[in-house]
Amino acid sequence: MKKYLCSITLLLTFVLIGKSQTSLVTKKGTDKKWWKEAIVYQIYPRSFKDSDGDGVGDLKGIISQLDYIKSLGVNAVWLNPIYSSPNDDNGYDVSDYRNIMKDFGTMADFDLLLKGLHQRGIKLVMDFVLNHSSDEHEWFKQSKSSRTSPYRDYYHWWDAERVKPNYRYSLFDVNHDAWKYDSTTNSFYLHYFSRKQPDLNWENPKLRKEIYDIMKFWADKGIDGYRLDAFQFAAKDTSFPAFPKGFEKNFVPYYAMGPHLHDYLKEMNQEVFSKYDVMTVAEGAGNNFQDAHDLVDADRMELNMAYAFDAIDLAKMEGYDFMKFKGTFTKWDSVFEKEGWLSIFLASHDQARIVNRFGNASPEYRDLSSKMLSTFLLTMRGTPYIYNGDELAMTNAGFQKISDFRDMPTLNEYQYQLNHGADMDKFMKRIEFESRDNARTPFQWDASKNAGFSTGNPWIQVGANYKAINRAAQENDPQSVLNYFRKLTALRKKYPAFVYGKYTLLDKSNTAIYAYTRELNDKKFLVLLNFSDHIAKANTGIKISNAEIVLANYSKQLNNGDLQPYEAVIYQLR
Ligand code: NOJ
Repeated sequence: MKKYLCSITLLLTFVLIGKSQTSLVTKKGTDKKWWKEAIVYQIYPRSFKDSDGDGVGDLKGIISQLDYIKSLGVNAVWLNPIYSSPNDDNGYDVSDYRNIMKDFGTMADFDLLLKGLHQRGIKLVMDFVLNHSSDEHEWFKQSKSSRTSPYRDYYHWWDAERVKPNYRYSLFDVNHDAWKYDSTTNSFYLHYFSRKQPDLNWENPKLRKEIYDIMKFWADKGIDGYRLDAFQFAAKDTSFPAFPKGFEKNFVPYYAMGPHLHDYLKEMNQEVFSKYDVMTVAEGAGNNFQDAHDLVDADRMELNMAYAFDAIDLAKMEGYDFMKFKGTFTKWDSVFEKEGWLSIFLASHDQARIVNRFGNASPEYRDLSSKMLSTFLLTMRGTPYIYNGDELAMTNAGFQKISDFRDMPTLNEYQYQLNHGADMDKFMKRIEFESRDNARTPFQWDASKNAGFSTGNPWIQVGANYKAINRAAQENDPQSVLNYFRKLTALRKKYPAFVYGKYTLLDKSNTAIYAYTRELNDKKFLVLLNFSDHIAKANTGIKISNAEIVLANYSKQLNNGDLQPYEAVIYQLR
């Protein structure tokens, strides 16, 4: 499971945003682009708002909350997949890329949603699952029907009479085996994720053309961006050579950035991105900084934005290495200082809640640490991504029984561990902390039944603390996490220095405080963040006596300038 979570994080790494690519090409970090100024709000549709009482969130539910979304001050929404799907992996197993999942509504609902977002000046980024489809997609049904099907080469098959295929690790399979035998044609098919997510064969130009047509179908409807799911895995060595023993412990270098990935991206750029004003987010930063740079180097016409993921992987049950955290963000910033662009995120539907991982979820510090983390996300260079519910400081689910969990890889891994005689108490503690379900519990709207998410029986339990943590309780409280978040988005939009300004790390060796400046032209800001639960001193060398506090999460600062637990202060320097 841990391996899986890390890999998912590794996946979440590229953001490419295209417009007519020639006009979007940007060499310098300070070149102005709308997508650099975006504040992206990620919505997990299944858990956001249910309009029809079936216990599953839907598009009409999102439509009913458009004014709330607008009120957050965000200007782009990333929706997890909403296409037809049998839901083995909550929509990341698409059975029809041109239709809407029944649970979520209809294409007419989608059109209304898009219109409603645009009317409010909010862009829509859709999730494109292109490394694999569902095994219930028509392509796969045809492909598996016969070895001579015209769709056979849309997927990766291995005839069983040949020598056994070399082992491939599957992230989601109950046996960790990515080859699944299918008796219809006496062959194995490849699935890096679950058995119900067969990998598409990107070497087939017919398949690539079909995908580009699908991408264009959505762009023609007016969407503003693409997030490319797991895309770095699309390019594989299809001779399927043997990998060194134990490769699955660190499989990304073997699986990611395979031959032709850059060719596919260039082609996709030419066929799709260059023709529209769209933003595209793809997972996977490759294996190193050079890979990342190659993917977003404007001259190469592939992607134009990347996000660092290494920091997200630092969070472990035992805590995380704060010095590495600062070092990672600083390193990534320096790599993209002159060319390319970064995304800034610490949470998504693939990680447990941000406040449990990087803050402090205790009642004493939950709100303070949540505000401090949002301050970080919204004052760094790069496009920030906020996962729904984090603007309220929603916490981990607190599930303790395996029957509470819904996430397919979590359940498959449970079975795998059981089959291998693992210490199941230890395993349960691990998933309690890190299962993806932690971030997938229903959005906490109010203190009514099911947190106001649904009048029916929610597909996954509501977080036990919804009476204390919910939108209604925070709406009219000027000190709430929610209203602090709104002040942050307003600040970022007011001062381009937070978007384009130079980032300089200060007090590098401080083990509790993350201190940095952001400066552009005549504006300079100092950001001080105490990531610890104790009072700490910042040694930045900057005199703050003349500085003005533009935002802080405590109403009063200590006289001697020390920072209180989880304190966040943004100063404007004179
Ligand atoms: C990455 C997505 O973020 C994750 O939720 C999904 O399970 C895998 N890709 C497989 O599509």
